[in-house]
Amino acid sequence: MMKTLAVTSGVVLALTLALAGAAGAQTFTKDVAPILQKSCQSCHRPGQMAPMSLMTYQDVRPWARSIKQRVTERQMPPWGIDPHVGIQSFKNDPSLRDDEVRLIAKWVDAGAPMGNAADMPKPREFDDSASWHIGKPDVIVTSPKHVVPAEAADWWGSYYVDTGLTEDRYIKAIESKPGKTAVVHHLLTYAVDADMTGDSNGDDSNAETSGEFLNEFAVGKNGDLFPEGTGRLLRAGTKIKFDFHYHSVGQEITDQSQLGIVLYPKGYTPKHVVYSKQLGQPTEPLDIPGGSTYVRSDGYTRFNQAGKITAFQPHMHTRGKRQCIELIYPDNKTEQLNCADWSFNWHIVSVYADDVAPIYPAGTVLHVISWHDNSASKANPDPRNWVGSGQRTIDEMGFAWITWHDFTEEQYKAEFDARKGVRRTTTAQGQPQ
Ligand code: HEC
Repeated sequence: MMKTLAVTSGVVLALTLALAGAAGAQTFTKDVAPILQKSCQSCHRPGQMAPMSLMTYQDVRPWARSIKQRVTERQMPPWGIDPHVGIQSFKNDPSLRDDEVRLIAKWVDAGAPMGNAADMPKPREFDDSASWHIGKPDVIVTSPKHVVPAEAADWWGSYYVDTGLTEDRYIKAIESKPGKTAVVHHLLTYAVDADMTGDSNGDDSNAETSGEFLNEFAVGKNGDLFPEGTGRLLRAGTKIKFDFHYHSVGQEITDQSQLGIVLYPKGYTPKHVVYSKQLGQPTEPLDIPGGSTYVRSDGYTRFNQAGKITAFQPHMHTRGKRQCIELIYPDNKTEQLNCADWSFNWHIVSVYADDVAPIYPAGTVLHVISWHDNSASKANPDPRNWVGSGQRTIDEMGFAWITWHDFTEEQYKAEFDARKGVRRTTTAQGQPQ
């Protein structure tokens, strides 16, 4: 008798569990589709750069395993910033939340069920309009026509184009607009000196010049509008360097991209002038033996004035692995800001949220730590080669693009005190800092 009861209750328990599981199970239409709409479809839809569409259940089903892998390894959506170190509040962070990643993984493990068709959300509408998101630009700079063959290796190269500007002016807003989004994997623009020439045309022996980083095109990005009273200086006679990564997509496509710039009125000087420069160049030439893993280099730049860092972008080439940045304050205390995994496929600018953007007193040193990995991997062209510092794509680099503006002593003190207030409130509530 006891035995029967036990068996029966066992069956009942199993049944209950199965039912509860079914009722609570994630489905594509109800749970997964909204996440894909929000975080994936900007790239994963017809005509965009990603290799497959993730719009419908039929599109998505064959990719379920691969989706689980890419989202749990935090490779998709592309971002790079290590979520376990340093500042985590950015204006442009596309990452999935932990619960979204868990949900996708559970859904895939349960066989990626479609669920109820009626639960499917309305398709997301995309603003594919040819208009500028920053308003009507005062200056439009256009890159030369570039033919992307139907099938070819990826193309990294640059073009230099005059702005036509005859006087110094301040930039209020700026937007890069690719002609054909399917083939423009990334587009970065820089302001460079008038004597810079040499369209590289895919010849990667051409020098990678410095200059001031202006703007990046990334899918779903609508341009940079500087906060009121903040701007970038664009000097008369400056040239624009268009840095492209073109990607073949099975048919021949001709691209011509544009940079649009809205200027402050003539004679206006913003309160804060914003700079973007290559900081923390390695102190020693890079020396990366064939087959080596995790070769470290360090670079330092001293800020002679107090200021605020508004954006960070690592820069390395194909052997780049990871970069961390920290501040060494005048009292020798060190604070880690961020670490980012690097992939040469993705040049991502991380823009700090205003209230946590790092501020520092005069005399602070920025410390940039880069790691290169020259072991065999999909991304490494040839792990047998020694690699050193240099300008060509096959050479290496390890610096950070930092965007910042200076503070006067009074401005720094005011912002420092304002933030102290915020911290005290948090501590009073007993929350960890
Ligand atoms: C900024 C554009 C962009 C966004 C946003 C994006 N992807 Fe991707 N995705 C790409 C590109 C480009 C590739 C191909 C290059 C690569 O594999 O890195 C890719 C590759 C993939 C792959 C591998 C395909 C293969 O051939 O094996 C998967 C899976 C994937 N993405 C899933 C996702 C999911 C899921 C999301 C949202 C959570 C997402 N992606 C968001 C651009 C994007």
